[in-house]
Amino acid sequence: MSDLLPFIRAWVTDPRKVSAISPSSPALARLITSEVTAHNTPVLELGPGTGVFTRALLDRGVPQDDLTLIEAGPDFSRLLAERYPKARVLQMDACRLGRQGLFGPGELASAISGLPLLSMKPRQIMGILSGSFEYLREDGAFYQFTYGPRCPVPSAILARLDLQATRIGTTVRNVPPSSVYKIERKSRPDILQTA
Ligand SMILES: C[S@@+](CC[C@H](N)C(=O)[O-])C[C@H]1O[C@@H](n2cnc3c(N)ncnc32)[C@H](O)[C@@H]1O
Repeated sequence: MSDLLPFIRAWVTDPRKVSAISPSSPALARLITSEVTAHNTPVLELGPGTGVFTRALLDRGVPQDDLTLIEAGPDFSRLLAERYPKARVLQMDACRLGRQGLFGPGELASAISGLPLLSMKPRQIMGILSGSFEYLREDGAFYQFTYGPRCPVPSAILARLDLQATRIGTTVRNVPPSSVYKIERKSRPDILQTA
């Protein structure tokens, strides 16, 4: 209940940016974080809102100081900094995360995104994906949830960045029911064979 008020307030201020009137459920939080492990860090979270996915990451054993949270909303950012004082909370536009030196190249293990990609322009989605993959390891993955029937990253963007998307699960224990996609670099069997 304490998370509902900040959410509704943010939604009234900027409905397009928040794109939901309540935080995600614990079931969706468990699904989107299900492949993250305590030893596979650091982890980047995009659009954490009140921190439902952040909580699930901590429950999976990810140390708070291995978390970077990028949130555009000033009230959400303040709340996150209070709740997770050891995490790195950056109030910024996730579309501009590339070339900021947030991590070394190939340092990041995974990215968890609660961003409303369905209400974003292709140029913005491109900025988010290209920026994240600039930091992600070769075998790193980007996890995105959606209320829609397919991956919310347009196939032209996946092809341009040489990425592939796989649905890892769907939960009806969220309003509305949601699916989670894992986006990763296309496997390169040619390289594996010669290695
Ligand atoms: C649908 S809410 C999801 C919040 C939370 N992850 C959850 O599932 O309950 C979208 C969140 O993304 C944030 N957001 C939207 N656009 C953003 C952007 N360009 N950069 C950073 N955060 C953004 C909003 O402020 C909001 O917190």
